[in-house]
Amino acid sequence: MENPVILETKNITKDFPGVRALDSVSFQLKKGEVLGLVGENGAGKSTLMKIFSGAYPANTYDGEIFIEGKRCILSGPKDSQRAGIAIIYQELNLIPELTVAENIFLAREPTVGKTGIIDRKKLFSQAKDLLDRLNIPVPPEEQIKNLSIGKQQMVEIAKALSYQAKILILDEPTSALPEQEVEVLFKMIGSLRSRGVSMIYISHKLDEIFKITDSVTVMRDGKTVASRRTPELSRQEMVALMVGRNIEDMYPKKSLAAGEVVLEVKNLFVSHPFLAGEKVVKDMSFKVRKGEILGISGLMGSGRSELVTSIFGAFPADSSGEIYVGGKQVKIRSPYEAINYGLGLVTEDRKLFGLVLGMQVGENITLSCLEKLSWHQIIIRSRESELINKYMGALRVKARSAETVVNTLSGGNQQKVVIAKWLATDPKVLLLDEPTRGVDVGAKVEIYQLMNKLAGEGIGIVMVSSDLPEVVSMSDRILIMHEGRMVKELQKNEATQEKIMFYATGGK
Ligand SMILES: Nc1ncnc2c1ncn2[C@@H]1O[C@H](COP(=O)(O)OP(=O)(O)OP(=O)(O)O)[C@@H](O)[C@H]1O
Ligand SMILES: [Mg+2]
Repeated sequence: MENPVILETKNITKDFPGVRALDSVSFQLKKGEVLGLVGENGAGKSTLMKIFSGAYPANTYDGEIFIEGKRCILSGPKDSQRAGIAIIYQELNLIPELTVAENIFLAREPTVGKTGIIDRKKLFSQAKDLLDRLNIPVPPEEQIKNLSIGKQQMVEIAKALSYQAKILILDEPTSALPEQEVEVLFKMIGSLRSRGVSMIYISHKLDEIFKITDSVTVMRDGKTVASRRTPELSRQEMVALMVGRNIEDMYPKKSLAAGEVVLEVKNLFVSHPFLAGEKVVKDMSFKVRKGEILGISGLMGSGRSELVTSIFGAFPADSSGEIYVGGKQVKIRSPYEAINYGLGLVTEDRKLFGLVLGMQVGENITLSCLEKLSWHQIIIRSRESELINKYMGALRVKARSAETVVNTLSGGNQQKVVIAKWLATDPKVLLLDEPTRGVDVGAKVEIYQLMNKLAGEGIGIVMVSSDLPEVVSMSDRILIMHEGRMVKELQKNEATQEKIMFYATGGK
């Protein structure tokens, strides 16, 4: 028997200045199901969820929402909470210095009688009850900052459910989660499902969608274009529905004859940013050739990101070792120097290092190459806009114009802007740290094609990635890191996902 519908929308239309983010969306979620919501970057997924969470109040859009058949006007987050809707955003909303229990019951702590004094004993015991009920192995007295991201996410979920949520929305919940913790989240989702909680699960990782969802709704250009039972949909079909065309080859790797060495790293050690005597990168040595894509794999915390940020002069701790660019030894003390030596770094955390969010798309793209565009300190506007148009076009950045503020772009489109920014510097070596995180399937293929093209032009590419199919398919060679050390090098023809996981988890 089909489950009854718990959440439904009719003809929701939402405009932002110049953009129709949602175009007459009709959407249905059934009770107790996990619904996967997929679609390209900018399709409108997060916007629809923000309508459900009350972040966009009812007077800012057209259309109707029904919960368990009843028309609901959601005028703000409190209304959504009362209606049983909870949302877990990608950026967690906990206070690091406070304990788990304090975070869960923030601003509604139990008090001693009517005194207004917080009843700490009751606070912790209530939190413990809740965590136990949900099988979350986190002590209520622990400070949030001491928990792994996965555990923090569990606390957020516990907090959401403590408001008796019936509908839980997870917007790209695994994008910042280490591989080991993804399984724990999936178990949690499974157990919530068996308790009758309905969930909307947004992800660009289609493996996850196939693994944990009961049904799938596809959005494209602000519309819902299909809703199916997950088992009735093939991967190929899902991708085609998302991007509106067939993608034959997800990983279009071209093999090129590798040229001379463009980057060489010898015996690199990188110190821990605050633990004296500890090293996060230990004795790394490797070479990258022109036209080569060198993959770097390893679990979160294995030193992958520290390695590339340190090479780029952007890691806040000492390092020792030798770096050669184009055969010449260099000392890179800052990103500015790195850029001058011909290095580019696309970082994992675009919000922290990649973009100036309050600035326009075009300004961000040219930020790192203003010297090239200037004549006696004056920026030549025609040259600037030519460059901006070139890269916005090449990467198909979905923005109304180059003047659009980056903040308002969807996640994946922000990532494209970061890549555009580094390409605009004409690098010899491009360091990519999780280049396709949060990027939709169509744009992923575009980024891969771009990597091929850059390799073809003689750029050496270092790609740190935890997306195993991506590393296996797009690298010429793969270095595997474990606890700061390189533990294995695999050639393209011998690399498999299983082998990588084996060495990444410390296998010998
Ligand atoms: N605050 C805003 N101001 C202006 N435009 C916005 C705003 N938020 C979203 N948009 C635009 O609305 C459209 C839908 O964006 P949304 O964030 O919902 O996409 P998404 O499907 O979640 O994409 P992604 O997969 O990249 O997260 C995009 O074109 C985006 O640029
Ligand atoms: Mg989104």
